[in-house]
Amino acid sequence: MMLVEKNIPLQAFNTFRIVAKAHAMVRITREQDVLDVLADPEWADSPKFVLGGGSNIVLTGDVKPLVLKVEVRGLQVVGETSKAIIVEAGAGEGWHDLVAWTLDQNLPGLENMALIPGTVGASPVQNVGAYGVELQDRFESLDAIDLHTGQVFSLNSAQCAFGYRDSVFKHASSATPDLHQPLGLKDRALILRVRFALPKVWKPVLGYADIERKMEQYGVTAPTPRQIFDWVCEVRRAKLPDPAEIGNAGSFFKNPTVTPEQCEDIIARDPKVVHYRLDNGSVKLAAGWLIDSCAWKGKSVGQAGVYEKQALVLVNRGAGVDGNGATGGEVMTLAKAIQTSVYERFGILLEPEPVVI
Ligand code: EPU
Repeated sequence: MMLVEKNIPLQAFNTFRIVAKAHAMVRITREQDVLDVLADPEWADSPKFVLGGGSNIVLTGDVKPLVLKVEVRGLQVVGETSKAIIVEAGAGEGWHDLVAWTLDQNLPGLENMALIPGTVGASPVQNVGAYGVELQDRFESLDAIDLHTGQVFSLNSAQCAFGYRDSVFKHASSATPDLHQPLGLKDRALILRVRFALPKVWKPVLGYADIERKMEQYGVTAPTPRQIFDWVCEVRRAKLPDPAEIGNAGSFFKNPTVTPEQCEDIIARDPKVVHYRLDNGSVKLAAGWLIDSCAWKGKSVGQAGVYEKQALVLVNRGAGVDGNGATGGEVMTLAKAIQTSVYERFGILLEPEPVVI
């Protein structure tokens, strides 16, 4: 029996804690729940929105498509290759819970990505990453279900087309297939399970300034996975707001990539600009620094604000128990004002990271 919940408040289901409602919502705990939706004449053809941990969305109004709330559970070792142990996690498991569980099983490899908010199922969508490790570095494959046909299929890493905070799941499927445009799976697929390849021979991924500082602080030269996990948690807690206390969706903008010439031009005007040279010759700029240097830290539009300790993070200042907090409109007005001022000063258009609904 399929249970369709009506008029569901979504404030608890998005980490920005924006007040909005789902007109209708179904909880998905296994593929059969999706098949039941597709077999129901009332819902089969209606637009659908897949909701994971709600950690990368901005709700700008009530959600009219049928919300499929992913609650597929399970954490298990499912196999091994000559180089890796394969771990499988249900899409509805919390990402950080997975990271902690793998360390408890003595299966390191995910520790640099500790405390990233959201669920396992959302992690491939934006190819989450932190402190030198991205999901794609540890990804083996995933199972998803086609929301049009009900067919379950698996994708390997190449098929997911991972990029920086990007994947096939962020791109719309075109109605008219175009050979030059890879077919996107946005709103088309629901991720059920993700498999990770955790290296049998573990090496720490170091090199990030924040982590190097912890090594000095604790006088450690050869850290254990557990130490890296603890340091990443410390660094994140010190500079990123805990969504349980202050609503937010992590970094609000992607770090932009520019040509070496553009970078030289900016350095000539702002010698302190934080930048990293990439292997392909282009240069990545720290969006947080760009926003910070336009003096946005601590500023607000209504109840939407720029976090005091990290300018890349927008926060909801008002979502207390009885306060309604920021609207999605306020968040987007603030985001546009930031984009405009960064564009006027540096000639760079920042691209938002969360999905705006
Ligand atoms: N900076 C400033 N002012 C600020 C913010 C940053 O000057 O207000 C400077 C910092 O001093 C630093 C540089 O900008 O030199 C980069 O800052 P940070 O190390 O905090 O990393 P980030 O580039 O802002 C990215 C990811 C984070 C990830 C960290 C660590 C993106 C969009 N964000 O942030 O991911 O945790 O690196 O790897 O790539 C997320 O995506 O939600 C997220 C939190």
